[in-house]
Amino acid sequence: MDSKKGQWGSNFGFLMAAVGSAVGLGNIWGFPYKMGISGGFAFLLIYLVLAVLVGFVIMLGELVIGRKTGKGVLAAYQDLSANYAWIGWMGTICPFLIMSFYTVLGGYAIKYMVANLGDFFHASWGVAGMDSGAFFGNFLVQPVQGIIYTFIFLLITYLIVRGGVQKGIEAFSVIAMPALFVLLLIAILRSLTLPGAMEGLAFMFKPNFEVFNGTGWITVLGRAGGQMFFSLSLGMGCMITYGSYLQKKENIEKNAIMIPFLDTLVAVMAGMAVMPAVFAFGMEPGGGPGLLFVTLQGVFAAMGGIGPIFGFLFYLFIVLAAISSAISLLEVATATFIDKAIAKGKEPNRHMATLWCSVGIFALAIIVAADGLGSNGLPMPLGFIWLDFFDLFSEGIMMPLGALAMSLIIGWKLGPDWMEDEITASGHKWSGKTFAMVCFRYIAPLGMVFILIGQLNGFFGWGLF
Ligand code: TRP
Repeated sequence: MDSKKGQWGSNFGFLMAAVGSAVGLGNIWGFPYKMGISGGFAFLLIYLVLAVLVGFVIMLGELVIGRKTGKGVLAAYQDLSANYAWIGWMGTICPFLIMSFYTVLGGYAIKYMVANLGDFFHASWGVAGMDSGAFFGNFLVQPVQGIIYTFIFLLITYLIVRGGVQKGIEAFSVIAMPALFVLLLIAILRSLTLPGAMEGLAFMFKPNFEVFNGTGWITVLGRAGGQMFFSLSLGMGCMITYGSYLQKKENIEKNAIMIPFLDTLVAVMAGMAVMPAVFAFGMEPGGGPGLLFVTLQGVFAAMGGIGPIFGFLFYLFIVLAAISSAISLLEVATATFIDKAIAKGKEPNRHMATLWCSVGIFALAIIVAADGLGSNGLPMPLGFIWLDFFDLFSEGIMMPLGALAMSLIIGWKLGPDWMEDEITASGHKWSGKTFAMVCFRYIAPLGMVFILIGQLNGFFGWGLF
């Protein structure tokens, strides 16, 4: 392993970083609501099947490509074949697009942490009894504030990534992820002990087979697939990049199982923290920014005196989840520049690479922040608010396409021996070889085509199913 690039100090460090990448806003605002409206426990089962048949193998494929080539997404695909470079390019563009809105939302979470702290001290900079919808609306029409909080979020992300793989990302993750878990447990305890909490659990878990009627099942499958895909950070080379820092002695197959398992666990737990509280205070469940910044803030306001404390802790939880995801996105971009320097025989400069990537991200994020989810009358490209516009190209098109291509390449071109060679390099057997190869060849590509169509259908409202 090239010492200029760095590597994970331990498998635990890698696992925390990878789970940190996976656990993010998607788990908190996407999963609980989607599970609730898409069949409850039945959705969870479908999600798990998809995670095993599609998510797990794509995770495995990305980790193998990363560790085998020892390179970030662009150089890794270029190494495999010049014909595959386009996949690497998509993976290089995606983190900029995703970060353009991820940093803005992370910034909002910081704003809410601060506001709850303000309420605790009865300060003027708190929510101060304002209706949570009005408070959010009022914040969105202040582009300068939005940009400042985005900057703060990006600055923290930048400082961590600048620190390097082991001293930055890993050091942060081994502390932040266990802390995040503890915060989540506190939130669950509070939420479940509220009067009326059971209704929230029923919303999330009660099996509802009606949603599968007619073409409903396709909608559910598409929703579950899209959610799984984003939540596991797949399709743009995040796991290729993280895998490239993994030591040869570590067991890739086991890690590829652990990451989806822990990500799903946190998603279900996030639901147990969020939904019971939403129902206990008689609010409407929902997803997206509205759930995070209007509904939940309403919950904290309704809790009375201790509300701001729980509000502060919960938004801290969201900030930690968002930062640990954002560092993985910034690292993908940074690694590409580092690889370029090494390929040219130059000494790589991580500080400069991280800085320039952050500047590029900030340029895009300013647009999204100024747009304030469409509140400020900025032009709407293709009729989308800017957040959704950037999301369309990344999550909607390039990521499913990248994963589809990868799965076909592994299944039909590189083949089982190529994979096995790397998986067994640690001295472990590849126990799920036949299963994985069937998935790479047939099941995952089919799933990815389906997810791609489902994503486009969702974005453009084609009403296909
Ligand atoms: N998985 C994260 C979430 O659930 C977001 C994320 C981080 C991501 N890195 C990614 C999504 C790479 C796609 C690709 O919020």
